[in-house]
Amino acid sequence: MPTGRIFSTNQIAERARKRLPRAIFDFIEGGAGSETAVGRNRDRLAQIALMPQALRDCSAAHAEVTIFDRRYSAPFGIAPMGFADLVRPGTDRALAGAAKAQNIPYVLSTAATTSIETIATIAQDNLWFQLYPGSDEAMAATLMERALKAGVTTLVATVDIPVPGKRPRDLTNGLAIPLRPSLRTILDVALHPVWGLRALRGERLGMANFVENKGSLSGLAHAEFVSRQLSCPGLDWKRIERIRQAWPHHLVIKGILNPQDALMAERIGADGIVVSNHGGRQLDSAPASIEVLPAIREACSDRLTLILDSGVRTGDDIARSLASGADFVLLGRPFLFAVAALGLSRGPDAIIDILRAEFLNTLIHLGCADPAELGSDHLWPRQGSNQ
Ligand SMILES: Cc1cc2nc3c(=O)[nH]c(=O)nc-3n(C[C@H](O)[C@H](O)[C@H](O)COP(=O)(O)O)c2cc1C
Repeated sequence: MPTGRIFSTNQIAERARKRLPRAIFDFIEGGAGSETAVGRNRDRLAQIALMPQALRDCSAAHAEVTIFDRRYSAPFGIAPMGFADLVRPGTDRALAGAAKAQNIPYVLSTAATTSIETIATIAQDNLWFQLYPGSDEAMAATLMERALKAGVTTLVATVDIPVPGKRPRDLTNGLAIPLRPSLRTILDVALHPVWGLRALRGERLGMANFVENKGSLSGLAHAEFVSRQLSCPGLDWKRIERIRQAWPHHLVIKGILNPQDALMAERIGADGIVVSNHGGRQLDSAPASIEVLPAIREACSDRLTLILDSGVRTGDDIARSLASGADFVLLGRPFLFAVAALGLSRGPDAIIDILRAEFLNTLIHLGCADPAELGSDHLWPRQGSNQ
């Protein structure tokens, strides 16, 4: 897939910054508070050194992994992201299509701008569905039934938004709930006419999974209504246990950082967790996902699949995560930036190619022919020794 002069997710993000109205770029890139957690995710990953191994035959090296009884072409997937079509109408569909074609998972958000049923016809068996259990149990049950009917076998229940994250960039731009775009935001959209025209020509943005709750609400009022249902300070493990009982396939709990919570997830019968600080978008003082991963691995049995997200940007980061105990990783922002930078048809494929090739390159430098060979032996300094 030719990408012009784009070879990395950093370059993709830089081009996206130029192409998107500032408020949209900020909505995607921004984090909570002072954005300490966003920086910490990157810093802690970068601090991990991996020890290469020479002269190991890696001529048959591959990036494939198996999780949840399914073989994928690489150890990464696309994290759930609400309002993806803000980047460009058709973003959800394009990402889902590339995930299917390149055989990686696509996790559709509860707050997606395209419905479960539409995306299921595109992503097919590569579709996972992310559920915000929220305050309305009947609403969540309906979403689960729809996901099941659409053929989804992996449900990802996100539990790290007891309250909405406070994101100063969105507040400044007027993109927080209630939506009140600032004058600067409105002027900036006028300075990005290509984005503006596409947005006007595309289908109207909305909470596609909640059309039946829309009634006479305007698009914005409806988005606000649904958003308020999704964050829920009253959510507890009993609710998650009920979800476990109701969902007949793989269940993953997303947004776990505390080893005790990881253990609890295992006890209630979850198949996996996403070790995640929501990309630094919720609790600014949260630890980086990568720094808590080893303690979580130690606390839980191998039966619990560990997926890591937040701050992963390169093939080396994917290898760092796997060597630190993850079975799989998800990436969020880079996929939206890829669509903004390279378009609907080129962007998603290009970024998957870049990340898979980078990962394979790293894997071979480490002397491994299979991602499953990555482990703490590849971390330097060696864990638990003075070497
Ligand atoms: C624009 C945007 C929207 C998001 N929406 C959701 C969502 O609807 N549900 C969810 O579980 N996580 C959501 N997330 C968090 C991602 O799933 C993921 O945890 C995070 O982006 C990973 O960090 P990264 O972007 O640094 O890779 C969102 C993230 C972004 C950037």
